[in-house]
Amino acid sequence: MAEVRVKGRDGTELTLDAPDGRPLMDILRDSGTGVEGTCGGMCSCGTCHVYVDAAWVDRLPPKSEDEDMMLEALGEVVELRPNSRLSCQIEISDELAGLSVEIGPAA
Ligand code: FES
Repeated sequence: MAEVRVKGRDGTELTLDAPDGRPLMDILRDSGTGVEGTCGGMCSCGTCHVYVDAAWVDRLPPKSEDEDMMLEALGEVVELRPNSRLSCQIEISDELAGLSVEIGPAA
């Protein structure tokens, strides 16, 4: 079990329990943060967009080709930053204890 720190779109800051092996998107969706996860984590909706805290960007697994393609499409309608990730592609593990993200705009 890890804890993740989350800044909501309205600036609210939360600390959430995040069980190992679950996608970050599930944690965010089930905690009322406004993340919808419409595609269920299939990397095809962009509703789970987050900005990852700079200290964590290089500690996450690299983006897959599918995530890159979805982010590229999302970037046509919302602001992307170099630290943009899809939270459905981030699997919680002990190594991510303390991960800090901000909920990003979604399509
Ligand atoms: S939940 Fe759809 S892209 Fe992440």
